[in-house]
This record gives sequence, C-alpha cells and structure tokens, in this order.
Amino acid sequence: MDTSKIQAKFKELYGTEGAVYLSPGRINLIGEHTDYNGGFVLPGAIDKAIYCVIKPNGSNKVRAYAPDENPKTVAINSEFGLEEADKPKERWAQYIFGVCREIVKKGKTIPGFDIIISGDVPLGAGMSSSAALESCVGFALNDQYALGFDRFELALIGQATEHNYVGVKCGIMDQFASCYGKEGSLIRLDCRSLEYEYFPFDPKGYRLTLLNTCVTHTLGDEYNERRTSCERTVAAIAKKHPEVRLLRDATLDMLKEVANQVTAVDYIRSEFVIEEIQRLLDTCELLKKGDYEAAGRKMYETHTGLSLKYMVSCPELDFLNEMAKKSGVAGSRVMGGGFGGCTINLVKDALYEEFVKEATTAYEKNFGITPKVYDVVIKDGARKLEM
Ligand code: GLA
Repeated sequence: MDTSKIQAKFKELYGTEGAVYLSPGRINLIGEHTDYNGGFVLPGAIDKAIYCVIKPNGSNKVRAYAPDENPKTVAINSEFGLEEADKPKERWAQYIFGVCREIVKKGKTIPGFDIIISGDVPLGAGMSSSAALESCVGFALNDQYALGFDRFELALIGQATEHNYVGVKCGIMDQFASCYGKEGSLIRLDCRSLEYEYFPFDPKGYRLTLLNTCVTHTLGDEYNERRTSCERTVAAIAKKHPEVRLLRDATLDMLKEVANQVTAVDYIRSEFVIEEIQRLLDTCELLKKGDYEAAGRKMYETHTGLSLKYMVSCPELDFLNEMAKKSGVAGSRVMGGGFGGCTINLVKDALYEEFVKEATTAYEKNFGITPKVYDVVIKDGARKLEM
C-alpha cells in the first residue's frame, strides 16, 4: 500500500511526522477452529496489512483517526484516555484502546500518542483484519516506547484484546501469524506447546487463490458458542480421563465414550475438531511429498466438516466450494472463523483462468454479487517501514 497519503494526513492533522508500522492479515491453509483446542494450524502472513502512522503527543490522551471508516456510520476521529473507564465508543478505536489497556495491565506506562490507522486487508473477509490491527498497534507502541515485549507477548496482547475488549474468545492463530509471518513460508504452530516451525510453501504449478463471497462477518456469539461446545465435551471426557485438558488431548474413542453425556451438537462439533487436528498433520506430510492433489482433497474434507459438522459455513461459501470442485480445483474450503468471508483455493495454474471466470459468473448469477479474487502472496509479519 502506498502510505504517502496517510503520512500526509498525519502531518495535516497533527502538524508533525510520524513513524509508519504495518502488520499483515493472514491465510490459513488448513487447521480451522483447532487453535483454541490446542491443535495445529498452518497460517501465513499475506501482502495485505493494517498500517499505522504514530507519534507520542506529550499528553495523556490518544488521538486516533481512521480515514477508511465509513463516515456515515462511524466517527473517523476518536479521542480517549487510557483508564479503564475511557473506552471509546467507536469499534475500530476500541481495538487501539484494548491493546493499550492490555499493555498497561502488564505494568507498563503508555503516554498519549497520535495515530492514524489504514490498510488494505478487507474487513470481515476472514483474513484477520482485527488481529492485524492489534498487532500493528502493539508492535508500534512496543517500538516507540521501548516496552521490551517479544513478538509472542505482542501476539498474546492482541488475543487478550479480543477476549477482553472485543468479546471474541479467539485462539492465538491470527495474532501469531501477523506477528511471526515469514516471506514464502507458512507457520506450523502447535497451539498446545506453542512450538512452531516455518514450513516453506512454494507449490510448483499451483496457486493459492482466495475468493471473497463478500458476505462480511463479525465473529461474536456464534464463534464463542463453538468454543464452549468444545469445552463442555472436554469436561465430560476429563471425568474419566483427567489428563484431557483440551480436545487436542482427546481421541475419537474417548469422544464415543461420552456420546450419551454431551448434546448431539457438541458431539459433532468436537468430532470435527479431533478429525481436523489429524487432518492437518496428514496434510503436512502430503505437502512435504509435493502431493498437492492429495493435500487439496484434505481441504475439501475440511470444508465438508466445517459446513456440516462445525456449522460455520453459509450458502455462498458452499456454492464457491462446489464451483471449485466442478472446475477440478485441487483444494478448496472456507477459511478462518467462517459465517462468510473467503474460500481458499489451491488451483493448478492451467485451471486458474477458467475457474476464476466460471466461479465469478456463476456466483454473480446466483447471488447478484461479484466475488473478489485475491492471489495469495506470503509475506513477513509485523514491522516498521523504514522511510
Ligand atoms: C478466527 C479466530 C482464530 C481461529 C479461527 C478459526 O480467525 O480469531 O483464533 O479460531 O477463527 O480457525
């Protein structure tokens, strides 16, 4: 993104120049709704990011400006203090406030600052614009005020912001990917031990393409409810198997043992998670062998599970998934939390043009919307832009 406009705006508003930071959105190849269950995920940071221009302002207030927000529905200016009672009313500003509060809770002081937020991560598209915003603000403040947090602590600060100031009980995947992204690599993260390895990803002859249904979602109650479903199952299993603390620790046999103690919905959701954790491990083996067609079939299995068992898909996502299947695309599935947003598609180069054309035309015909198409480029995580 060309940052000259927001830099100029910063100067116009605050009469001085600020430093520029960015933190990217993410894709996730496979391993969905596994992070808060202690399983594995396989995300990568992308070439779309949230940017900020920032400078301490010598007061105890934050002055924030977000030029991309729709001025009809939300104020683009927000000014707030950093005491708990000062929570701003604009949702976008609450992320900034939340990150500050979480840092303050860790015993650090944050003097006031001016900040402009912008970016090119589509909102509500499953590419984690929220995590990108949290990571961007956290990274910038850490650098500006020499707070001494490492990237992992910054990811945790972003996650805590979601939990405590946004109300989404998310896992760690999005913030981790935004902070730890590495050009050309996915990250295989074990969300129980938090060990991770970079997984070079350059599928020769294939492309990773996102198709955005343009059904925007805000994760909230429905997401949190999935999490509590999993927790209830864990509690039931732990009665007999106290070593089970997360669904990651459970097997399908253990789940069967509690079939009569959990609801049918909790059961089927938990079954999806246990299967998905194993599916990710199997997929990594296939990727190592370069068998992208077989890896792609795993992605379809994930979609079916997310749609029928975890119930986080929607007709538009299912439609694009079907279109991919019809076009012979190697792999396709709903990406991220679900309820809208994008499908992620592993497409053979030779099929790409036709698939995108056919999927776009059919989607327009059915839903009256043109889906957006993004070719994924895997990039580095949070950083300062050196001018
Ligand atoms: C959202 C959450 C993540 C993760 C995904 C589903 O993106 O923020 O923590 O749970 O959904 O995999």
